[in-house]
Amino acid sequence: MAAVALLLLLAAGGASAAAPRKPVDVPFQKNYVPTWATDHIHYIDGGREVQLVLDKTTGTGFQTRGSYLFGHFSMHMKLVAGDSAGTVTAFYLSSQNSEHDEIDFEFLGNRTGQPYILQTNVFTGGKGDREQRIYLWFDPTKEYHSYSVLWNLYMIA
Ligand SMILES: *[C@@H]1O[C@H](CO)[C@@H](O)[C@H](O)[C@H]1NC(C)=O
Repeated sequence: MAAVALLLLLAAGGASAAAPRKPVDVPFQKNYVPTWATDHIHYIDGGREVQLVLDKTTGTGFQTRGSYLFGHFSMHMKLVAGDSAGTVTAFYLSSQNSEHDEIDFEFLGNRTGQPYILQTNVFTGGKGDREQRIYLWFDPTKEYHSYSVLWNLYMIA
C-alpha cells in the first residue's frame, strides 16, 4: 500500500481525532484541512472538536494535511440521530496516487428506529471486494464512540 491521507467525509455527526500515544493539543487547522463546504464545519472549544453539518444543500468533510505510511488512526464520533436514511458518514484512509489503496469505515444511515450498519472495506491497487457489514451492538447516535484502524506491515485491524 502507498502512503494514505486520512479523510473524513460526512454526511453528518460530530468528530474529533485522537492520537494513540500521548495526546497533544494542537489547533485543528494545523493537521487538517476542510475538503468542501467549509462553512458546514463548526469549530467547538477552539477546534478541539468539530461538528460536521448536514443540511438540505450539502454535507462536508476534512482530511489530514500529511500522508502516512502505517499508523493507528482513531476517530471519536457521534452520528446523526433520527431519520438518517440515505446518509453516509465515512472515515477512510485513501492513497493520493493512481493505484487507489483505501481503508474504509462507512456508517450507512437508516430510518428512525432502524439500526445503522457499519460497512468496512479495503482496497489495494484498485481492488476492493472485501466488504464487511457490521451490525453495531450499541446506538452510535447516543454517545461518542472511538473507531480505530491499526495498519502496519503485517495487518489491517
Ligand atoms: C436498516 O435496518 C434494517 C433492519 O431493521 C436492515 O435490514 C437494513 O439493512 C438497514 N439498512 C441500512 C442501509 O443499514
